[in-house]
Amino acid sequence: MAKKTITTFQKLKDNKEKIAMLTAYDYSTAKVLDEAEIDGILVGDSLAMVALGYENTYNITIDEMLIFVSAVARGAKNSFIVGDMPFMSYNLSIEQGLENASKMIKSGANAVKIEGCNEHILSLTKRLVESGIPVLAHLGLTPQLLNTLGGYKIQGKTFEAVEAILESAKKLQDAGAFAVVLELLPAESAEYITNNLDIPTIGIGAGVGCSGQIVVTDDILGKFTDFAPKFVRKFANLHDIMLDGVRKYSKEVKDLEFPSKKESFELNENEKEKLGIIGGN
Ligand code: KIV
Repeated sequence: MAKKTITTFQKLKDNKEKIAMLTAYDYSTAKVLDEAEIDGILVGDSLAMVALGYENTYNITIDEMLIFVSAVARGAKNSFIVGDMPFMSYNLSIEQGLENASKMIKSGANAVKIEGCNEHILSLTKRLVESGIPVLAHLGLTPQLLNTLGGYKIQGKTFEAVEAILESAKKLQDAGAFAVVLELLPAESAEYITNNLDIPTIGIGAGVGCSGQIVVTDDILGKFTDFAPKFVRKFANLHDIMLDGVRKYSKEVKDLEFPSKKESFELNENEKEKLGIIGGN
């Protein structure tokens, strides 16, 4: 299995094959995703909520993100790894964006994701790509702009709104973005945008017409249960599996059934005798 690249993403779109992406924040999850031959892994800033228990994505810093990016990079050898640039880690200046994006790459990411589209984001995208850092753009519902968007609202609901998102996507494409995440859009809007772009779109809550899909792994495997957006399908129920396992463990500890002799190490007879231990434990 060869390492996936931005070329893999473009080829999949051109061949009308779908791109499957998921999030991962740790080494062992990344290994599973890689074994399943997932095309791309996003170390999303959603980890602020899913792994760290914050209410939104605002509190995660670039230095914290790097710990998770490097863990995922050690676990995933073939999937294409995207590091999510957290809130305010790229908005202050081009230099700040370049410096923090380079830290992502040095920690093992193959690309970075940046939310939104304005003159600064377009210039930064161009500079990053020129510097050898692929950029995954992110339009529609952009969680880092939650306060200015007024909450988790479906985007692109009118002709004008769809045209505005398409215009932004085209500008990001021209600036060099290799793909664009479309979050929380009516399926028809996302499909229209996808059909009018050369680069792939990766949908989340944006219907089947995107070039690919991304969702939060902990959501689709039923591990994160604080809330479940409409677009999430549960492919497994890890919460219940874990709860059952942990309850069994706790009961067996209390009932002296765990650990058994098989799960323990034994002192040799001589040493036991010296310690005055007769028989087993
Ligand atoms: O942070 C995240 O996980 C994302 C999504 C696109 C899944 O941005």
